[in-house]
Amino acid sequence: MLVGGDLSGIRIKHFPFLLAIRCNLMDVRGMSGAKTFRLGLLGSGKGSNAAAIADACASGQIPAQVAIVLSDVADAGILQQARERGLPAVFIAPGKLRAKLDEAAGAAYIRALQDAQVDLVALAGFMRILQGAFLRVFAQRVVNIHPALLPAFPGLEAWKQALDYGVKVTGATVHFVDQGVDTGPIIAQRTVPVLPGDTPATLHARIQEAERVVYPATIAALARGAVRVQGRQTVWQ
Ligand code: GRF
Repeated sequence: MLVGGDLSGIRIKHFPFLLAIRCNLMDVRGMSGAKTFRLGLLGSGKGSNAAAIADACASGQIPAQVAIVLSDVADAGILQQARERGLPAVFIAPGKLRAKLDEAAGAAYIRALQDAQVDLVALAGFMRILQGAFLRVFAQRVVNIHPALLPAFPGLEAWKQALDYGVKVTGATVHFVDQGVDTGPIIAQRTVPVLPGDTPATLHARIQEAERVVYPATIAALARGAVRVQGRQTVWQ
């Protein structure tokens, strides 16, 4: 279990506002037969993070169930990964905008997640910026995994940005999603070395290994209600 401070390369960062993440502790009742903590996963790509999260739910590492998997790409691997695991997997067309969901699509995503009664939305390679109504409906209940140590290298191809810049250490960051791009409060980070001879592909692969550790561990903590936030401080209980 994760505790506050450094643990196996997972660094707990600080938060910019007073926030208690209750994560519906009352809903995590496991074997009592009552409602289980429910996750909604959104992605546009191959779905390695979603698969790791789903497998961690199945093994009990995360005390939650994947209630629904949504994608804006009809043939995305993440939908296939979900279907192979018997999870509900739905393509919802993103609408006409290039980098965001249009209003109707945004409403469709909200409706699907509400129908699935999700407690937490976890973005796993979802290539659309979420703003406005979506973040109001799921206020402080949307998290993302970013392939760098934020606030360094936000945005696209963060592993390539890190390599081009010449850093010796990079990593993965789990953060809450706010109205900005990769600017939300940081929940946990895991470091990854940049090795001599690394290419963007080798570095990205090493970062993705770290993601598949830090993301399920962080979601498990959130599902347990084990993260308390005060200002920019976080306390993992
Ligand atoms: C991950 O590298 C993540 O950091 C970024 O998108 C990628 C998704 O990969 N946000 P996958 O679809 O989970 O394999």
